[in-house]
Amino acid sequence: MSEFKTIIEPFRIKAVEAVKFTHREEREAALREAGYNVFRLHAEDVLVDLLTDSGTGAMSAAQWGALMQGDESYAGSRSYYRFRDVVNDLTGFRHVIPTHQGRAAERILFHSVLEAGQVVPNNNHFDTTRANVEVEKAEARDLVIVEGRVPSRVHPFKGNMDLEALEHALESDGDRIPLVMVTVTNNTGGGQPVSLENLRGIRRLCDRYRKPFFLDACRFAENSWFIKVREEGQGARSPREIAREMFSLADGCTMSAKKDGLANIGGFLALNDDAWAERCRNLLILTEGFPTYGGLAGYDLEAVARGLEEVLEEPYLRYRIRSIEYLHERLVGAGVPVLQPAGGHAVYLDARALLPHIPPLEYPGIALADALYVEAGIRGVEIGTVMFGLHPDGTERPADMDLVRLAIPRRVYTQSHIDYVAEAVIAVAALKDDLRGYRITKAPPVLRHFTALFEPRGA
Ligand code: F0G
Repeated sequence: MSEFKTIIEPFRIKAVEAVKFTHREEREAALREAGYNVFRLHAEDVLVDLLTDSGTGAMSAAQWGALMQGDESYAGSRSYYRFRDVVNDLTGFRHVIPTHQGRAAERILFHSVLEAGQVVPNNNHFDTTRANVEVEKAEARDLVIVEGRVPSRVHPFKGNMDLEALEHALESDGDRIPLVMVTVTNNTGGGQPVSLENLRGIRRLCDRYRKPFFLDACRFAENSWFIKVREEGQGARSPREIAREMFSLADGCTMSAKKDGLANIGGFLALNDDAWAERCRNLLILTEGFPTYGGLAGYDLEAVARGLEEVLEEPYLRYRIRSIEYLHERLVGAGVPVLQPAGGHAVYLDARALLPHIPPLEYPGIALADALYVEAGIRGVEIGTVMFGLHPDGTERPADMDLVRLAIPRRVYTQSHIDYVAEAVIAVAALKDDLRGYRITKAPPVLRHFTALFEPRGA
């Protein structure tokens, strides 16, 4: 079947969910009511929801079937052992600790091993990862390569860690670094992959300085696909072989199964160190649950176990990465400034480049995200100065980039939904001169983007 070029959705649909069409005035009212923060909208009032690819995917018939096999025993459930074996076979890590989602794994790991004043290097910390480091009074230090900080720069592995900067950190702050972390793909930096070569380099440095190396593995399968198609000598290997090698270079990982676990909830912490695992399990019992369910139902463990297998299937990954690239190509073709190249799970609009008349501290990302909702019922998310501009010392500074991420849920939208999104984004970009900045009227001190209230400037 390889003689045809069209890459089709590698599934057919057997259950559908209607979406609600709204009028512009209704969306204006809903957004005003939400304090101009799209996180506060009722999801029902959104037509195409690209807020996140997390927990929003469609499960397969096999996953729904697996739910009925869930063993709900409190301790030692059959579903746990199935889940453990799948994770163990994929990652090779000895200890597999289920958690209700990724940030629970982060919280348990960091609270168990971090001390105040320590430093965690990462290519880019995701928001919850950063917050879970900072809540321990430690520093979350981003060491992505320079190309990774400039939206318009093209690089096949723009998520790579700057190895020189990492070596420098290990040399000068080594006694304060309890572990090194790398996020695959690099969500904050545009869903950009990390190469095997880079992961091997990090491993060598971690060996030299005797530091454990952890992956934030939420999108490990998408990262594996990029390695397969972009890294020299990797084209003939299966995504699974590549994923296994990625994990084999690390000592542990945190994982949100809401992304490449193809599940609606779930996650895990997996690691080799016995003493750390014991500490983590003790904290897990306090906050998540017994170590064989970790805050999940037996049926969730079944869905994740099955999802971790489906996500590595080649037709799925080929379609997945291509569907994001397709939206990216259409926007680039129309001259809309987007982060280059296309990410694995999302297209990132460069709000700072599109709206140079709105300074970063007037939140161009909010202006663009809000306009997309009002004009077209599309919900994206600001990844910029609102998300990352407020620092633990209370100061506010522009983030490296002001982006609006359009994250594509897995197996949910068809090509015509994406064509609609492309048409709408191009139309909103044409209105750029009419868009205004925002000010924050109320916000919590940590992770403010989720709940902050805004008002338009000059209103
Ligand atoms: N690490 C990365 C790289 C993530 O993208 C996320 C979540 C997490 C950790 C935390 O996982 O949500 O299961 O607790 N990212 C979602 C997003 C929320 O929209 O990008 P979680």
